Amino acid sequence: MERKNQIITFFERHPELKLKQEIIDQLITEAKLTREKAYTPYSHYKVGAAVLCESGKIYGGCNVEDVSYTLTDHAEKVAILQAILAGEMKEYGRKFIKALVVVHEKDSMPCGICRQRIKEFCDEALIINANQEGKILGISCLSELLPAAFGPSHLGKD
Ligand code: THU
Ligand code: ZN
Repeated sequence: MERKNQIITFFERHPELKLKQEIIDQLITEAKLTREKAYTPYSHYKVGAAVLCESGKIYGGCNVEDVSYTLTDHAEKVAILQAILAGEMKEYGRKFIKALVVVHEKDSMPCGICRQRIKEFCDEALIINANQEGKILGISCLSELLPAAFGPSHLGKD
């Protein structure tokens, strides 16, 4: 019940970010499915992500680790790459991200690097983290997760 109140309160503060429950469910399902594809021989910490684009289409991603550790790709970044490869920037330009859902091994929002990557492709986005059973654990948005962000506008990009 408390969690439900948290969701209601969030959408009261950010009505412009509200999505249909059906879309949220689709995002969670995609994040859960892609999470199963994660390559995590080192951390065994699997992450799935799903990004909703302005076009209405959804793309999934999982983390892909590397023996160097440094080359590891985060699930959120992979989902965003999938959207770019599918041509999402053609119609909406740089700001094509509308929402992103993550399913981490534990209760966690996207890390700092991923927040910065999301900032590259939108000014604001709904961000949700759900557990492996598909239950919403947290609901937030980019401006709350990355306040006072450094973004493309600082280098003269709209
Ligand atoms: N990871 C993600 O995929 N996204 C995040 O935002 C946090 C961390 C991955 C990277 C690595 O494969 C594992 O989780 C443990 O750090
Ligand atoms: Zn990350």
